[in-house]
Amino acid sequence: MSDTTATTSLDLENDDATRRVGAALGELVAPGDVIGLIGDLGAGKTTLCKALIAALGVDEDDVTSPTFVLAREHEGRIPAVHVDCYRMQYAAELTLLDLPIGGSALALIEWADKVAEALPADHLSLELDHQDGGRKLTIRAGGPRSEELKRGLLTRLHSSQGA
Ligand SMILES: Nc1ncnc2c1ncn2[C@@H]1O[C@H](COP(=O)(O)OP(=O)(O)OP(=O)(O)O)[C@@H](O)[C@H]1O
Ligand SMILES: [Mg+2]
Repeated sequence: MSDTTATTSLDLENDDATRRVGAALGELVAPGDVIGLIGDLGAGKTTLCKALIAALGVDEDDVTSPTFVLAREHEGRIPAVHVDCYRMQYAAELTLLDLPIGGSALALIEWADKVAEALPADHLSLELDHQDGGRKLTIRAGGPRSEELKRGLLTRLHSSQGA
């Protein structure tokens, strides 16, 4: 693990490691939280979102990629909106959808780099990159709430490793 002030990197060796990150975050998130996912095609963004939404108590089979519908809403322990911005060219397209981002739901935004200007500064950014058959996860916090989520996530991942 490497650490700078606001950025931390983790090695995710396989699909299960990506899922563990999602599941741990699912126990920490609250309405109003915004999580942006960045990464190429096949990086693992939807895998992480599925595990996170399943950890909210939603049947994982109901969580499919919102690539074509742009956004799906789920109702678990808290409401969640899952957005895929792959087809968006302008950040304003996200704003026009009028979703409860930063409001009454948890927001999970895939391809967050395409709509960066439309996201609150205080969001948790999760960037996935291919690395040696697995993935490298770079976690960035943009403000106090996302920093709290980042620390909570790292604590959970470390304590489950030791278990
Ligand atoms: N840490 C990992 N190591 C190896 N494979 C992984 C890892 N995390 C996820 N995968 C696998 O990568 C594949 C692509 O994952 P996923 O569909 O979640 O990517 P995506 O970022 O949503 O892609 P797209 O943008 O094309 O929708 C899946 O087969 C998944 O199991
Ligand atoms: Mg996907």
